Amino acid sequence: MAATVTLTGGSPAKFQGSMLAIPLGENPEIAGALTEVDTQLGGSIKRSIDSRFFRGARDEVFFVSGSSQGAARVALVGMGKISDRAGSLRRAAAIAARQAMKLGGGDLGFYVDGEDAREIEAATVGILAGSWEYKDLKTPPPETEQRQPLATATIIGNDTDAARSALSSGESIGAGQALARTLAMMPGNLCTPDYLAETAREIAERHGMKITVLGRTEMEQEGMGSFLCVAQGTPQDPKLIALEYAGGTPGAKPVTLVGKGLCFDSGGISIKPAPGMEDMKFDMCGAAGVLGAMESIARMRLPVNVVGLVGSTTNMPSGTAVNPGDVVKSHLGKYIEVINTDAEGRLVLADVLSYARKFDPAVVVDAATLTGACVIALGHTATGVFSADEELIAEVIAAGKRAGEPGWSMPLWDEYRDLIKSDVADIKNTGGRAAGAITAAMFLKEFTETYPWIHLDVAGTAYSEADLVALPKGPTGVPTGTFIEFVRGRVS
Ligand code: BES
Ligand code: MN
Ligand code: ZN
Repeated sequence: MAATVTLTGGSPAKFQGSMLAIPLGENPEIAGALTEVDTQLGGSIKRSIDSRFFRGARDEVFFVSGSSQGAARVALVGMGKISDRAGSLRRAAAIAARQAMKLGGGDLGFYVDGEDAREIEAATVGILAGSWEYKDLKTPPPETEQRQPLATATIIGNDTDAARSALSSGESIGAGQALARTLAMMPGNLCTPDYLAETAREIAERHGMKITVLGRTEMEQEGMGSFLCVAQGTPQDPKLIALEYAGGTPGAKPVTLVGKGLCFDSGGISIKPAPGMEDMKFDMCGAAGVLGAMESIARMRLPVNVVGLVGSTTNMPSGTAVNPGDVVKSHLGKYIEVINTDAEGRLVLADVLSYARKFDPAVVVDAATLTGACVIALGHTATGVFSADEELIAEVIAAGKRAGEPGWSMPLWDEYRDLIKSDVADIKNTGGRAAGAITAAMFLKEFTETYPWIHLDVAGTAYSEADLVALPKGPTGVPTGTFIEFVRGRVS
């Protein structure tokens, strides 16, 4: 259960819960309402700072015992040098919530000095991110050994209308990100293409969206030879899911979000090595981001028309699987030579991007855990951003920045097209090791010529193989926040 976040005005010294978190920048000074807390604690906050036990460095956490009048314990959470206060607060709130989850005790107070709407929203998103967990498949310990779960979090700031509405949008964003992370964390035998379609149906029903789901038969009728060649090795029914959210002016062209939804990617006949293969359940993080963003966008009732498209299947070796050297005819009509069956994401997306024309999109943003090469280029810090449209690149990078999901632009020049020339077909699906993330994007570009388009390679950012300070290992929620902020930025 996610924590319920509430808002209260007044002094943090009045908070009597199990943990009060105070976010502080580098070399902090104790002033204003914090003096009251410090006095209540006999000056121990100031002493910890003066003695440099706590310096306010980024991600630093220092605990001070509480008092009978206030919280049971006080956590000073460092934010380091602050350039973007909302972003720093989001991170500090996630760290605080994670600590509160670990320590148990039921409730967290998070002090936000003021009523800035962006900051209140960011703190809410951070608390929800830090308190997310996936426990469905773990048998709970006996009740006597259980800690009290984090049930409520209280943001201590100014209780104004603006702050309340910021809290509410923060909850909407948090809910979408939690949905995306849960879908991503679910193992491939539970989160199947069918399950993603069911989840999308449930989102559509709750928010009154139109939904279309194409299965193998419908995709055959559509002539989606590229998508289907990936799906021909699996007995599971592939799904192309289209969610239509009509929040904007009727008839206005929709912002279209597209996600790669490989519920498991073994590589197919070009099979992957065994170590780490289990992480390929995360190969649907783009799709999870689309569904999560649609959930958030609908909750916030953003006045924009948005279409969410998901291409979902699994990539399996079998007697019916596609083979290297096979040539398939895509939905757009171009012939594709399959060189490596492990470059399956682009084959699925080619047909989804071609299908997107049906919605007459204002712009298409796709997100995919597309290439290992992108992880080599940018690591786990930045999402690869690929487009021929400079303004769109700036727009998406700015959206990612607001969401705390940094992106970095990569070249998408015609020179790279030569690397995916085929001897027998119009194009081949891999271009060798050099510029692997770029040739993958160049491949997608071939199927997007009729609308403005941008591609996000989230292979390095959508999940983490290691425990991070603010988040546990596993799905990070990327690209949900970028999608949401991008759509928000299109509210006119
Ligand atoms: N899903 C993988 C990409 C991936 C790799 C995501 C590592 C996350 C972490 C994708 O389908 C893939 O296998 N790509 C190949 C492409 C190659 C065969 C041209 C790759 O990156 O190795
Ligand atoms: Mn693959
Ligand atoms: Zn893949």
